[in-house]
Amino acid sequence: MASFQSNPFLLFLLSLMVVVASASGGEFTLGKEKPTRSTKKEKPTRSPKKEKSTHLHFYMHDSNGGRKPTAIRVVQGPPLNLPGSNSNFGDVFVMDDPLTEGPKSTSTSKLVGRAQGLHVFASRDSADTALLLTTNLVFTEGKYNGSTLSILARDAIFAPVRELPVVGGTGEFRLARGYALLKTHSFNTNSSNAVLDLDVHVMHY
Ligand SMILES: *[C@@H]1O[C@H](CO)[C@@H](O)[C@H](O)[C@H]1NC(C)=O
Ligand SMILES: *[C@@H]1O[C@H](CO)[C@@H](O)[C@H](O)[C@H]1NC(C)=O
Repeated sequence: MASFQSNPFLLFLLSLMVVVASASGGEFTLGKEKPTRSTKKEKPTRSPKKEKSTHLHFYMHDSNGGRKPTAIRVVQGPPLNLPGSNSNFGDVFVMDDPLTEGPKSTSTSKLVGRAQGLHVFASRDSADTALLLTTNLVFTEGKYNGSTLSILARDAIFAPVRELPVVGGTGEFRLARGYALLKTHSFNTNSSNAVLDLDVHVMHY
């Protein structure tokens, strides 16, 4: 220790490091976040919009078989035999699924929007089938008509409840963030028609 302190060359190096460190503390800092709003106790010129929280509940009808499929396979992966499914790792589906108020078919339950996006069979593990689900929920009813929510999620389709992150939104849902709980309400193996129950919780402005 004593020899370290008395070494003039080391002292010079140390002081140089201090100068470099303080010079780099300028515009770009790592690991520090700035508040988005001024913390000064000034009266704001514009009152910031209040954040709202909204809960939505509806059903999604996904049919990749039958006469009028709403999800079509556009890329087929090599056969790796996912059990209980005609699908393979790597399959990509584009979907335009109706969203309805109730679980009954779209002819009897009120249409509230559509889920437009894609899902990809993204798990190689056949014991843990999971999709990459990336979709926009486009609402067509009431005050949410024309507003959208964006979901980017892992959907482990055989799990009883899946949690999907809501990563954004437009219109009434500008700056939205939140989550959706997804459950399989019913699945018809003949027509490959799935009815999914969605509970969406979002914070937005
Ligand atoms: C939703 O908005 C579109 C476009 O503005 C309009 O044509 C349609 O009638 C609206 N639907 C409802 C149910 O308000
Ligand atoms: C599927 O088809 C079989 C044979 O046609 C029929 O017996 C069965 O009830 C159908 N299942 C559903 C859920 O519609």
